[in-house]
Amino acid sequence: MSDNKGSFRSAGWWSGTGKNAMLHRERMRNQGPPPDMFDGRPVIGICNTFSELNPCNAHFRQLAEAVKRGVYQAGGFPVEFPTMSLGEPLMRPTAMLFRNLMSMDVEESIRGNPVDGVALLTGCDKTNPASLMGAASCDLPTILVSGGPMLKGKYRGRDLGSGTDVWRFSEDVRAGKMTEEEFLEVETGMARSNGFCMTMGTASTMASLSEALGIALPGSTTIPAVDSRLYLNATLAGRRIVEMVREDLRISKVLTRKAFENAIRVNACIGGSTNAVVHLLALAGRVGVDLDLSDFDILAHDLPLLVNLQPSGEYLMEDFYYGGGLPVVIREMGDLLSADTISVNGKSIVENSAQAECYDRKVIGTLEKNFKQRAGIAVLKGNLCPDGAVIKPSAATAALLQHRGRAVVFEDIDDFHARIDDANLDVDETCVLVLKGAGPRGYPGFPELGNLPLPPKILAKGITDMVRISDARMSGTAYGAVVLHISPESSVGGPLALVQNGDTIELDVEKRRLHLDVSDAELEKRRAAWQPPEPQYSRGYAKLYVDHVLQADKGADFDFLVGQSGAPIPRHSH
Ligand code: FES
Repeated sequence: MSDNKGSFRSAGWWSGTGKNAMLHRERMRNQGPPPDMFDGRPVIGICNTFSELNPCNAHFRQLAEAVKRGVYQAGGFPVEFPTMSLGEPLMRPTAMLFRNLMSMDVEESIRGNPVDGVALLTGCDKTNPASLMGAASCDLPTILVSGGPMLKGKYRGRDLGSGTDVWRFSEDVRAGKMTEEEFLEVETGMARSNGFCMTMGTASTMASLSEALGIALPGSTTIPAVDSRLYLNATLAGRRIVEMVREDLRISKVLTRKAFENAIRVNACIGGSTNAVVHLLALAGRVGVDLDLSDFDILAHDLPLLVNLQPSGEYLMEDFYYGGGLPVVIREMGDLLSADTISVNGKSIVENSAQAECYDRKVIGTLEKNFKQRAGIAVLKGNLCPDGAVIKPSAATAALLQHRGRAVVFEDIDDFHARIDDANLDVDETCVLVLKGAGPRGYPGFPELGNLPLPPKILAKGITDMVRISDARMSGTAYGAVVLHISPESSVGGPLALVQNGDTIELDVEKRRLHLDVSDAELEKRRAAWQPPEPQYSRGYAKLYVDHVLQADKGADFDFLVGQSGAPIPRHSH
């Protein structure tokens, strides 16, 4: 293997005959690597988000072994290291609170160690953006290895979609259409294998967008977690990252403005999660790409839905993969995507997908025969959201996309839970449910609470959607006429804080407008009387978060993490 011995970053730790080099090597030798592992070959850090508390990533020990095989085969030296893992279903108060913390863990673990290139093993929602953000701030050659979606859920002969069907069935229970016993029976058939949510939720979205960005091998991110091809891909990724180090193909060469534009357009055509907005904005900030919330609307609002997956459609990730996966979508999008990008295999995503074949037109459509028109995320403006808000029209009831209604206001999620099931709550289906206190700073952590459950008396009428607005996020598996990410959030004094019961709110998605129909004079009066909420935390990480988190329209990164510091070799302490 012809490497320029001593030219890689890792040589700064173990080349030479001095005390420090010897110290670094002798301690690594306790794991038994042959001496030639220190001969100047590329050292590949395998950043493993395995955790039994993150079931979506619980198979990553095996996945890491497959990556290692590939690294060895290509003449590299693999070194696996753990990082914080964020299990979406379990972590409280919300996994999003810790995305930035995990990104710091990834960044410093890479920079502080003898690593020349990185393979990021990602699965569950936040592990993908956190890993990418951390790696981007170091700017070494980087490849993302997707942990793959779960097999389809099964219940009484029908397919089940993770998240989406939980929300649906829990509403059925509240509406009296399903018993609690039946609801609990669903539990055993929902998550039947390793992997992440198999709807087009946030994990599937971010995996697919990683491929669209070019940071994962073509065709790799939709492979089901229990499919042998997942391990084949991991081995190939292991081989490829060694070559990327030799080529000095750094993450900043892949994550260009054009790559982000491609990802935004692909997000529309796959019916991707609104969470992609926040994560892509934060990631762009790390690599210095000038990306704005409005780009999501400008670049993609009029694109059609090409993928018939829940929650916008019918099918699940397994069907998507068997139908040809993301390369088919990329090929079908044709000139909508830029070929002036470079992916981890050295070619553009357009070139990589040129020969992709579709095997199931029920699941993957074409620009002409699509599943919905204008599927992109809409960015709203108005006196309720001066810095923007988002809605996913493809997942909403069309009739509600233009709506005026009376506000029913909940000051925070505890207030909501205390009153929503009250038969005396003054609400009907024409009202607009308003939730405050669920933004990045207010909750804190920017939780997925935006798809508020409907009042039981409305569900009992067979109504399944209402306009709901908040400064929260929404699970990528959820659906409805739900306005999210209102910026500035209520807890920092955004206009959402001033909404009162009985106010009229107007939503007009066609005109991109979210308006509080209250006079400026009255709003000024309310603003003068508004008191910021008491701080919930006086110490620890949560305080750091509240003190430094940016608003949703900036990606909710920390102000001091925006940008990159590269990966210079730090001085030693021996
Ligand atoms: Fe992990 Fe959905 S809970 S991906």
